[in-house]
Amino acid sequence: MILLLAGGDSYYRGVIVMLFDVNPKERREDFYDRDAELSEVLEALRLGERLVVVFGVRRIGKSSLVKVALKEASLPYVLVDVRDVYYSENIVTIPYLIRYLVEGFKKHMKWYERLGFNLKEVLGRIRKIRVKGYEIEVEPTARISLTTLLSEIDLWCRRHGMRFVFVFDEAQYLRFSNIRYDGILAWAIDNLSNVTFILTGSEVGVLREFLRVDDPKAPLFGRYIREIYVDRFTREQSMDFLIQGFKELGKEVELREVEDAVETFDGLVGWLTHYGYYRAVRKLPHKKAMAKVFEEGSKLALEELVRVIAPSRKRYSAILKAVAHGAESWSDIKAYTVARTGPITDKRFTELLKNLVKYGYLIKENNKYKIPDPIIKHLATEKL
Ligand SMILES: Nc1ncnc2c1ncn2[C@@H]1O[C@H](COP(=O)(O)OP(=O)(O)O)[C@@H](O)[C@H]1O
Ligand SMILES: [Mg+2]
Repeated sequence: MILLLAGGDSYYRGVIVMLFDVNPKERREDFYDRDAELSEVLEALRLGERLVVVFGVRRIGKSSLVKVALKEASLPYVLVDVRDVYYSENIVTIPYLIRYLVEGFKKHMKWYERLGFNLKEVLGRIRKIRVKGYEIEVEPTARISLTTLLSEIDLWCRRHGMRFVFVFDEAQYLRFSNIRYDGILAWAIDNLSNVTFILTGSEVGVLREFLRVDDPKAPLFGRYIREIYVDRFTREQSMDFLIQGFKELGKEVELREVEDAVETFDGLVGWLTHYGYYRAVRKLPHKKAMAKVFEEGSKLALEELVRVIAPSRKRYSAILKAVAHGAESWSDIKAYTVARTGPITDKRFTELLKNLVKYGYLIKENNKYKIPDPIIKHLATEKL
């Protein structure tokens, strides 16, 4: 929730942004629909399932779904955005992960207190780490073991009939490490009955590959996993979402403008939210609000895209440009790519194309390739 303060020194008028708050949602009231997905997460938690994986393209509402569910379930949890860890540290080692977990614990101290989860008691059993008030002190030289931390939390929860949830947001980034997190996850799932892991992933194909649940030689093979897919909104949902958001803010808009936004942003709630924010909170005219979503959205999306395509930037850019300009078939995209970047073997080209699908920047339907996100399409034509 954002509190916008307007007015002079002597008085402030608070406007509370709800559906159009551009941060991930945490409260059910601010979170549109997703009843089915929410029930699934809640059911998994109620049944004490140990591994929940939430798949869905970028900005479709995965983080929001998980946060709202955990608030609804009144469960103590900690959330680490693994992409953040990777972007800041370049590698997701255990000491880094522990550091981000500790930061996450700090954010939730009041929530733990309200639920009766005694983190102080848990951490009191681990050497070199202490809770003081709402602060957590870790000795600078401490090498805290992740398995010990997980075990102690599980033990405490078992004694007190509670469940603790570790959320690894954008968990596909766990693959960038010097150790195998899928092994640790498998161990935890087998041994810790009062801990649930929720993983989310925008790069659906990459997360699947990381988990390797279908590979008999992989640690997680054969484990029960609750898989939840968050899909884009239908046209009706998108319309209704915008109309409700405008209503909340007392903003009157023309139907054809709403239709235009829905048509353009194609069920991607993240962009619809940004549009609503610019239109109703920042009070920009329709066309300006639309342009602003493309402009600001591009900035948000560009860093991630550039990092993903860095290993073969010219080739990946050419492929995305080809598709953005309307090439759909393997051979048309390849012809365009070769024209721009020179010869490439079929094998290598197919590999690059597949990677873009795995990373969620392309989708393949009936042997035709498309860019599923209008902002990425815009980036491909304008910025790459
Ligand atoms: N069901 C929803 N109702 C209202 N806003 C939503 C909903 N789902 C997502 N949002 C908004 O869309 C944006 C992206 O959501 P987020 O949860 O960060 O997506 P993801 O984690 O899939 O990238 C945020 O601004 C969030 O507030
Ligand atoms: Mg997210």
